[in-house]
Amino acid sequence: MTQTAFPRFTRIAGTGSYLPPRRLTNAQLAAQLAEQGVETSDQWIVERTGIRARHFADDGVVCSDLALHAARHALEAAGRQAGEIDLIIVATSTPDMVFPSTACLLQQKLGIAGCPAFDVQAVCSGFVYALTVADSMIRTGAASRALVIGSEVFSRILDFTDRTTCVLFGDGAGAVVLEASDAPGILATDLHADGRHVGILCTPGTVAGGKVLGDPLLKMDGQAVFKLAVRVLEESARAVLDKAGRQDSDIDWLIPHQANIRIMQGTAKKLKLPLEKLVVTVDEHGNTSAASIPLALDHAVRSGQVKRGDTVMLEGVGGGFTWGAVLLDL
Ligand code: ACO
Repeated sequence: MTQTAFPRFTRIAGTGSYLPPRRLTNAQLAAQLAEQGVETSDQWIVERTGIRARHFADDGVVCSDLALHAARHALEAAGRQAGEIDLIIVATSTPDMVFPSTACLLQQKLGIAGCPAFDVQAVCSGFVYALTVADSMIRTGAASRALVIGSEVFSRILDFTDRTTCVLFGDGAGAVVLEASDAPGILATDLHADGRHVGILCTPGTVAGGKVLGDPLLKMDGQAVFKLAVRVLEESARAVLDKAGRQDSDIDWLIPHQANIRIMQGTAKKLKLPLEKLVVTVDEHGNTSAASIPLALDHAVRSGQVKRGDTVMLEGVGGGFTWGAVLLDL
């Protein structure tokens, strides 16, 4: 029997991401919407959200396809082969099928078999949820090298007659390879949910008797989400810093869920972080739900912004309502 040394920690060995090639600027999206009588503008979208463009997957491209590209990039960055992975977790709310999980479909596309593979559904907090589960499994010895992926095709659940939501979201995937390590790595995690707020952000449809029942398109009360998000993001950041015995000033980079630049800047301000420490990709990606944090992390790593040894705060918030944070030394 293999002996596992304790205590052990989880570190990120490599990051990867993928954006489908079809990029739509606000002006291009506004022109398409205008053809259906839906009025919006680049100016409104930029001022209210900070979004300038988003990527949409072509018809026939599914969540596991985006996840596969991101996973391969993360494996390459970690210098690992798919066959060395012993756990796959995919965070998504836009899976390929009702079942099996996107993680199982991804496992097959990676050409591996045997290791546990499952999805985590926590909407825009999905990646911090998945990272926390993988961290727990690695710390207890249940896994040693995990692929954790956030992948979404939110364009499939958008109501393109509702200008208050369809301009906000995009498609994409981000991934990390996690490895067991004798030093952190992940310093602390903090997860929460409050199902009483289900109504302010949901896609309420379901499948029954061979038919879609209810509305399968995203609904959001933007202002209610905004208020709740600003509050819980600060609370979760404070909780994770407390657990790790660190201060606001120890944070080198804040990588929050990329939903709205105003929420992100509000969180940075509450943590007394200069805006230069905020990683921003919402301008180019829009809100990619569970994919937004690993996409932003990978972009920041590959651009040389975030470096090995930096202390990074990841924060998610989304439908459920769910929220949480992960503090790590890269
Ligand atoms: N183009 C032009 N005008 C618009 C658009 C649009 N795309 N959308 C709304 N408007 C109009 C409204 O009709 C309203 O007009 P009125 O004043 O004549 O009634 C006006 O703009 C203001 O609308 P508000 O809803 O008050 O705008 P607000 O400043 O609140 O911004 C937004 C809306 C961007 C949605 C904001 O509330 C927000 O970002 N909320 C949080 C979203 C979020 O963080 N989601 C994260 C979780 S996502 C997940 O988990 C899947």
